[in-house]
Amino acid sequence: MVSFDFKTYNTIKLDNYDLSAIHNKFIQDNNLTGWYNLNQDTKDVKKLALDIQSKADIFLVIGIGGSYLGSKAIIEALNPYFSTNKPEILFVGTDLSNEYLNSLINYIKGKEVYIDVISKSGTTLEILLAFNYLLEYMKREYDNYNDRIIITTNDHTGDLYEYATKNNTILLNVPEDVGGRYSVLTNVGLLPIAVAGYDVDKLLEGAKESKQHIDDCYYYATLRNEQYQSNKYVESFNVYEPKLYYFTEWLKQLFAESQGKNNKGILPISTVNTRDLHSLGQYFQEGLPILFSTTINVAKEDSKLDIINNQAVLCVAQAHYPHTSTSIINIDAINEYNLGYLIFFFEMSAMLGSYLLGVNYYDQPGVNGYKDLLHKVVEK
Ligand code: PA5
Repeated sequence: MVSFDFKTYNTIKLDNYDLSAIHNKFIQDNNLTGWYNLNQDTKDVKKLALDIQSKADIFLVIGIGGSYLGSKAIIEALNPYFSTNKPEILFVGTDLSNEYLNSLINYIKGKEVYIDVISKSGTTLEILLAFNYLLEYMKREYDNYNDRIIITTNDHTGDLYEYATKNNTILLNVPEDVGGRYSVLTNVGLLPIAVAGYDVDKLLEGAKESKQHIDDCYYYATLRNEQYQSNKYVESFNVYEPKLYYFTEWLKQLFAESQGKNNKGILPISTVNTRDLHSLGQYFQEGLPILFSTTINVAKEDSKLDIINNQAVLCVAQAHYPHTSTSIINIDAINEYNLGYLIFFFEMSAMLGSYLLGVNYYDQPGVNGYKDLLHKVVEK
């Protein structure tokens, strides 16, 4: 169960706000919103995941940005702390660290390894470099190494698509009308999540339920925009359960890449509390008044510490208010259904918020700028 308190600790209260303008804009601009349809068929992904689970010790996910953050966020949130779950899911390709790759090779040596290389474009440098490096390892270790490689990419172009068709590896499609950061509920996110042992149908079920409550997205998108118009330029996503840390990383990517353009946009940051109350908390309370907050609270009451954690959420919102306003999103547990619900809620809100800002939610020209420059330097 997911519930929202947008009002108690918010300076802006949208009691008579008009939904029609934003709603009409959404209806008119129903462009590239494949993610909105939530029509991924999970049968093949689940079958493949079961097969990999029965054979693999290690499942390597090679991806960056939207091609890894969603699955990383969900797996971290659902895994127990100090997890020893098998297969172990490891993420690669999020940096250019030679030391990391060497250490990884030492770590996976002698284990049963399967790889999912994920890149919608099939051309992202970090991904191709990591894949080539690991491919050499796979060639040395296994005769039928291509049977252990899954390529998740578009269905017509790019180095990865070419590799898959030439070498007859399993090829999973990233739908053309689903952008990277909106792709967690497609093959991109669902295969790693299913291999980790989690229920992808429940994720989709939660997302579909969220879609039935779209007014909450309208409200939140409008509220964020009103905060921004009143010079609150920074939004902090706060969690009080450390395993949700990567969910805030996913949120930062979703909002920064969707909205930070044309010299506009709310800067997303995040805190893991109560840890960060002893650092950034000072700024929230008394610093430059440019912040507002969105807290995701796991409102369970199974123990005395749970109850104190819930009280901390309210005390902090109260202490920071009105200097920093806080919206509170309560979930009764960290499970697939609630996480799916939140995924749709935030994706929809990011898109609607971009309409209100007047920016294209779907592109990321700034990111492409660095990609192009680095490609040129490396190709020299
Ligand atoms: O949200 C996005 O579109 C980006 O963050 C991409 O996911 C990221 O740049 C990786 O791109 P690709 O999947 O083409 O390798």
